[in-house]
Amino acid sequence: MVTSAWPYINYVPHLGNIVSSILSADVVARYYRLKGHDVVYVTGSDEHGTPIEIEAVRLNIPPKQLTDRNHAQVSDLFQRWGIAFSNYTRTENPVHKEFVRNFLLKIYENGYIFTQESEQLYCPKCDRFLPDRFVEGTCPHCGDTGARGDQCDACGKLLEPTNLLEPRCAICNSAPIVETRKHWYFDLPKLSEKLRDYIQNNEQLPDNARNFTLNILKDGLKPRPVTRDNKWGIPSPFPGSEDKTIYVWVEAVLGYISATVQYFKRLGQEERWKEYWFDKEAKTLYFIGKDNIPFHTMILPALLLATHEPYNLPWTVHSTEFLMFDGQAFSKSRRIGIWIDEALELFPADYWRYSLLSIRPEVKDTNFSWTTLVEKVNSDLNDTLGNFVHRTLTFINKQFSSAVPQPSSLDEKDKAILEEAKEIVNKTSECLEQFKLQEALRYAISLSHLGNRYFNEKEPWKTIKTDRQESANTLYVAAQIVKQLAIILEPFIPFTTEKLWALLNLPGSVHEQKWNETEKELPPDHKINKAKPLFSKIEGTEEELQAKLEEARAKLKKLSNT
Ligand code: MF3
Ligand code: ZN
Repeated sequence: MVTSAWPYINYVPHLGNIVSSILSADVVARYYRLKGHDVVYVTGSDEHGTPIEIEAVRLNIPPKQLTDRNHAQVSDLFQRWGIAFSNYTRTENPVHKEFVRNFLLKIYENGYIFTQESEQLYCPKCDRFLPDRFVEGTCPHCGDTGARGDQCDACGKLLEPTNLLEPRCAICNSAPIVETRKHWYFDLPKLSEKLRDYIQNNEQLPDNARNFTLNILKDGLKPRPVTRDNKWGIPSPFPGSEDKTIYVWVEAVLGYISATVQYFKRLGQEERWKEYWFDKEAKTLYFIGKDNIPFHTMILPALLLATHEPYNLPWTVHSTEFLMFDGQAFSKSRRIGIWIDEALELFPADYWRYSLLSIRPEVKDTNFSWTTLVEKVNSDLNDTLGNFVHRTLTFINKQFSSAVPQPSSLDEKDKAILEEAKEIVNKTSECLEQFKLQEALRYAISLSHLGNRYFNEKEPWKTIKTDRQESANTLYVAAQIVKQLAIILEPFIPFTTEKLWALLNLPGSVHEQKWNETEKELPPDHKINKAKPLFSKIEGTEEELQAKLEEARAKLKKLSNT
């Protein structure tokens, strides 16, 4: 069960959003499919949170109109980015809403929900209650002045709006007043022991997720209100709470399950979702931004435990550090960064996928710049991978009438290279299984370095004149490496590897192959197709590329206005 954080659909995601969650999960889902696992990859648009309501207020349109439009656009973009979801859905989906309401009633019946009067912030000027991100202020833990009502991004701690020092309304900036209201609370403290057990005994949890969560547990858990006075959201199911909606995080994390339910419903296999959520053989993997950790290591497991049903708790929760753009944080308001729609106006998805994954911020914040893109595309993709594939295929086209040559008594060098290639394939897979995607990609691309070096040393363009068999051996070996590259790079650059599969004239789609196909020979006499370059170089200085981006931005803006 592979999942990635549900993007808030107030806006199109930017490169930083996609690399940590959706793209990472896609690589892992594709890898496990190649390994022959049964993989379901789900996520969807997070439609109900305050970020959406705030954006709708700003645009002066109903929230649903905003999310309908953005959901359609973003779903299409993810497809164009080559994200192989089993189901990309949305939290307005009726299956989700019904699932959430039933789920919450169950934990209510199990005694984990109680009501309490509490102080709420209310903005008289906007005439609305200010939960979550409707209110901003100073974090009581770290003093950061940009904290929001439900969480401080600077220190990651979860908050209640009334904890904020110097609170202000996120819409009009005025100071809210305090009012008392009744709300329905989730009794998190009741689950402290079970949560601690889970965190301590799950060896798969990366250290950052474990330590962060243990810290919160040490401070002691507090009950969290699950109802809100907002109109936009899923209507609360508890008796007496009819005028309230459900807190967005509580329902969104349940979307992982409802999206699986929906997926199998569509396939006409209504019960099969349970295999993925209850069967102990199944593993659930989460790819998220690091500010999402507590919702996935605490809130979600607590909700699952409160059902008293045998739900699988998160097996691993992977988060990355932040991706910067030219040394600065991505910023929508200041227009710093690149968004996933404009990116595709400039270059093919695989160029972005490759560049982003090769600097995926695994241990520290990393910086993306135009130079990064140019260097990765021109030297790694074009000059190394593209070159090796192209010279191998054109040589076979020209000198061997497009048929993989018949080898005869391979020499030590040939054999050693095939051995080395096998090792690289294994290393790539080891790294992927530890979710070190950046390193995995480095290994995978190193196979084309190896190929190039081998080709240079063997000089088949000379031996073809002096010793035709020797040249045939070289091209036989090189062709094996080309085929291996197509498979091990599939999770990273799915469009290119599909093209390569077609150039090799192999049956079916590369996406349906199995990883161990790398061990099978591309047989002698197999006819390949006429080589075509897989990539082209990116031309232009940083300034020129930035100008191109501005152009694309203006064009897209024009489109969305018409
Ligand atoms: N929309 C949230 C964000 O962008 C992530 C929600 S993840 C979910 O930070 F699991 F709750 F859906
Ligand atoms: Zn206000």
